[in-house]
Amino acid sequence: MDLRLAGHGALVTGSSSGIGATIAETLADEGCDVLVHGRDAAAAAAVAERIAARGVRAEVVLGDLTEPGIAEQVAVTARDFGARILVNNAGPFAEHDWESSRPSDWRAAFEGNVLPTVRVTQSLLPSLRTHGWGRVITIGSRAVRTPLPNMVTYSAAKAAVVNMTTSLARHLAGTGVTANCVSPGVIATPSMHRMFEERAAEERAASDGHEHGDGAKGAAEAAEAAIVAEYAPNPSGRLGRPEDIAAAVAYLASPVADYVNGIELRVDGGITGTP
Ligand SMILES: NC(=O)c1ccc[n+]([C@@H]2O[C@H](COP(=O)([O-])OP(=O)(O)OC[C@H]3O[C@@H](n4cnc5c(N)ncnc54)[C@H](OP(=O)(O)O)[C@@H]3O)[C@@H](O)[C@H]2O)c1
Repeated sequence: MDLRLAGHGALVTGSSSGIGATIAETLADEGCDVLVHGRDAAAAAAVAERIAARGVRAEVVLGDLTEPGIAEQVAVTARDFGARILVNNAGPFAEHDWESSRPSDWRAAFEGNVLPTVRVTQSLLPSLRTHGWGRVITIGSRAVRTPLPNMVTYSAAKAAVVNMTTSLARHLAGTGVTANCVSPGVIATPSMHRMFEERAAEERAASDGHEHGDGAKGAAEAAEAAIVAEYAPNPSGRLGRPEDIAAAVAYLASPVADYVNGIELRVDGGITGTP
């Protein structure tokens, strides 16, 4: 299917690594020009270089979205770049439970996940309205429907992001701009792999300290399988890949998805377990 994305411009926040980088590269594969965003200049430049190699336009905008004024600056750069597709992907997670979480932890979760989404979206909306077509796609989480007791602040902030998406879609009625959310399950990103490796190392240390079988790689794979079984049991039987999320984003970003509006699209292997 031709997604008819060629020639469109996109900003993907937090695309210097992880899921965001794969979203940026997937949109480029579909012919989009992409504005890569992050805080790490070298990492963002590397992604932009890979995108430009596909023959589309790629630029970089840097900035910490929790700092005053940065979200607005990023949005202005996106407007000037010609971005009509906004992917609000940056959204840090942290582990806190009900007993130990402090007000500052709750504030950080909302300042990292909710406010950047609000501020970049608000700042880019006038140009999307003027253009009469646009896409706002925000990355949620499986924690929206199944709040995680060890990530209470993150779960609540992501729930807010999904809620905001629906009100935004209604607010934008008749403008040609849609707003949707993609909620990933547990995705095997580099940061997730580091977690597997740490767990594998802990397990080795807890046994006899010696490596067995395939060594560190085999242990990491075994740890990943254990994580699927213990932490992320899902009918699809595996962890998600960044490509799974990127494909859903590309679809929602495309003119093909014109009649899909205000939804949360769960790309989680069925882990949520609710209709
Ligand atoms: N991984 C999962 O299993 C999973 C599951 C559910 C939902 N999600 C959601 O999916 C999205 C991407 O997750 P991920 O695992 O790919 O994340 P990640 O690996 O932690 O990626 C973080 C990206 O966001 C940028 N970023 C983080 N905080 C930022 C800030 N304050 N200002 C500007 N940029 C910032 C980073 O930029 P620099 O590195 O350049 O600083 C990097 O490009 C997030 O919204 C996350 O909550 C992930």
